[in-house]
Amino acid sequence: MPLSKTKIIQNFNRAAAAYDELASLQRKIGKSILRNVAQSAFAEHDSPRIADLGCGTGELLKALADEGFENLTGFDISEAMLAEAQKKCGSLPSLRLVQSDIESLPTDKDTFDVVISNAAIQWCSTQKVIEEIRRVLKPCGRLWINTFGPATLRQWRDVFGDFGYDAVHDFDSTDKIESALHRTGFERIEIVSYEVDVTFNSVAAMFDSVRKIGAGAAQANPSRNHISKPDLRAIKRRFETTLKAEGQLMLTYEVIKIASES
Ligand SMILES: C[S@@+](CC[C@H](N)C(=O)[O-])C[C@H]1O[C@@H](n2cnc3c(N)ncnc32)[C@H](O)[C@@H]1O
Repeated sequence: MPLSKTKIIQNFNRAAAAYDELASLQRKIGKSILRNVAQSAFAEHDSPRIADLGCGTGELLKALADEGFENLTGFDISEAMLAEAQKKCGSLPSLRLVQSDIESLPTDKDTFDVVISNAAIQWCSTQKVIEEIRRVLKPCGRLWINTFGPATLRQWRDVFGDFGYDAVHDFDSTDKIESALHRTGFERIEIVSYEVDVTFNSVAAMFDSVRKIGAGAAQANPSRNHISKPDLRAIKRRFETTLKAEGQLMLTYEVIKIASES
């Protein structure tokens, strides 16, 4: 089912203030992107131009600046996430923050040496974002993306599904992402995926981890994801039962890491 951009923007605008406190998985996986950029030939390059797509609160941009990278541009669709990024990175001289849909960047062809994106393109059409990256990357530019695959939030999907709700959208598989990269003309494509289980010791903590970081449902058909209060209470009771039986609650994330060259 298609995603609603309006809903995605609302979710992340609401999430922005608490995002950094709750997004520990996103922060953890983002470190591999920092390592890749810092260890690449671009680290020797004279001021490579780097774009972060779906930069959120600017965690990666700030870390890249701390590593000495200049010429950084962050794109995000949520004004509140960008406002947090501005607070975090405000004094950096050569940083630009741009409110934009990353499926259609307000940027000339062949602009960037490096494009990175952490935990963001799962909210977009993979094909459109990859075409945009190909357009704005210079020849021989590098791409590092972390995103999430179909096994992500399967426990959440199953329980909400039992009550008739479509609470998790369809994440693209590694095969689909790889095909999009090939079709668009990328070379030297490397894709790996692995599962991470995040555990919680209360239902409230699990709900916060999904909803307060903006990862709640954003499908375009609201009748499938507007949850009635009685159903929500019943869903929470179901998770309580699992918690009592197993001593903890678990949510799986399928992390997909992509590296490629234009
Ligand atoms: C889970 S956050 C990740 C933020 C950051 N990259 C990080 O690692 O913490 C996803 C971000 O993608 C942004 N986003 C979602 N869809 C987008 C789109 N179509 N265009 C631009 N940004 C988008 C959201 O506003 C949000 O800031």
